[in-house]
Amino acid sequence: MTTRVSPLDVIDWASVKPFWIEAFGAGDDESPPGPGRHVWRVDSGDEVVALGVDREFETWLGEQRVPTAGIAGITVPAEHRGGGYLRPLFETLLGAARERGALLSGLYPTSSGIYRSLGYAPVAHLDDVAVPTHLLEVRGDAADVRRASPEDLPAIAAAYAAWARQHRGPLTRDGISFPDPAKAFTDSTTGVTLAESSPGQVTGYAAWDRGKGYGTGAVLTVRELVALDRPSLVGLLRTLGSFASVTPTTVIRTSTPDDWTGLLRSDDSRVQSRSTYMVKVLDVAAFRALSPAPALTAELPFTWQGQGYMASVAGGQVDVAATASTTASRELDDTAIVQTLFGASDSR
Ligand SMILES: CC(C)(COP(=O)(O)OP(=O)(O)OC[C@H]1O[C@@H](n2cnc3c(N)ncnc32)[C@H](O)[C@@H]1OP(=O)(O)O)[C@@H](O)C(=O)NCCC(=O)NCCS
Repeated sequence: MTTRVSPLDVIDWASVKPFWIEAFGAGDDESPPGPGRHVWRVDSGDEVVALGVDREFETWLGEQRVPTAGIAGITVPAEHRGGGYLRPLFETLLGAARERGALLSGLYPTSSGIYRSLGYAPVAHLDDVAVPTHLLEVRGDAADVRRASPEDLPAIAAAYAAWARQHRGPLTRDGISFPDPAKAFTDSTTGVTLAESSPGQVTGYAAWDRGKGYGTGAVLTVRELVALDRPSLVGLLRTLGSFASVTPTTVIRTSTPDDWTGLLRSDDSRVQSRSTYMVKVLDVAAFRALSPAPALTAELPFTWQGQGYMASVAGGQVDVAATASTTASRELDDTAIVQTLFGASDSR
């Protein structure tokens, strides 16, 4: 039977919505197509056999913003699973993303095996780390802390951007897919605590949800913890630690646990749940975002997907150009190219 991949019309939204609800559970369905959100459908005969969403994101990489296709809502209705519909879905969806300039694609899989053969490789984890709250009463010089008010949202967003651009992989939180930058901080939070290393300068924040009750079983949940320097981290952790008498456990959502678990006086923290973030390289032009050491000069031939390339490193920049030769000794598969891009640290 012929398989067709096409954009989903808003008018068809209601008829396919049940597939997301049954796949991910009620209340976790995807939103309709809209600005920055492209929904794709695969049809076989007169049946919808797969759905997927491509969101227009940007990734911080080497302090540059790299256009990214953020994949969500990949679903095959139960009776059609195992039919091989994901490959044509991804070919068309990512082809359209490439056309608008996306150089990377990223997703959080329910099972990483699904996406490995489609060229995605793990680059990071987003963990919920459970820690005895009293351990957060850490020692050291602490920045001043205060409760954020709505007027602080631009400063919080700026602190996030300053943190994110120093890392490889976090998304920017502005542009077409983030019409409400405050959402990440205000969703399900009781409060946002700010750290200020110097007066008026927001150098970190913790967005936390107090949860219900107190005593055994009560949990303080930290949705986001960002600190641009150590005194800010100490000040924020200590504020969270002050809940020890009422919430014996704190669960901190984090992609950089090493930044703060090293400050605790015991290793008595554990990863409660883990989401793996996977990335696929759509175009070698993504390498141009890297910032190698200015003194480094190199010519690095490689092949990827049967095409030869030359990466030229000079003056703190990388250029990549296709070459006629495909005899380079360094052959990168899809995983190796992701690891090359995300594996090394930038020169600072
Ligand atoms: C995940 C899901 C979309 C896969 O659909 P499917 O019809 O089995 O996919 P395909 O037949 O096109 O298979 C694609 C590849 O993924 C692999 N795969 C499928 N399900 C897998 C799983 N749960 N774990 C590991 N690999 C899996 C297949 O073996 C195949 O690999 P191959 O290309 O190397 O042979 C489908 O099971 C589903 O809708 N599940 C519920 C929602 C969900 O988990 N969505 C993913 C959100 S990230």
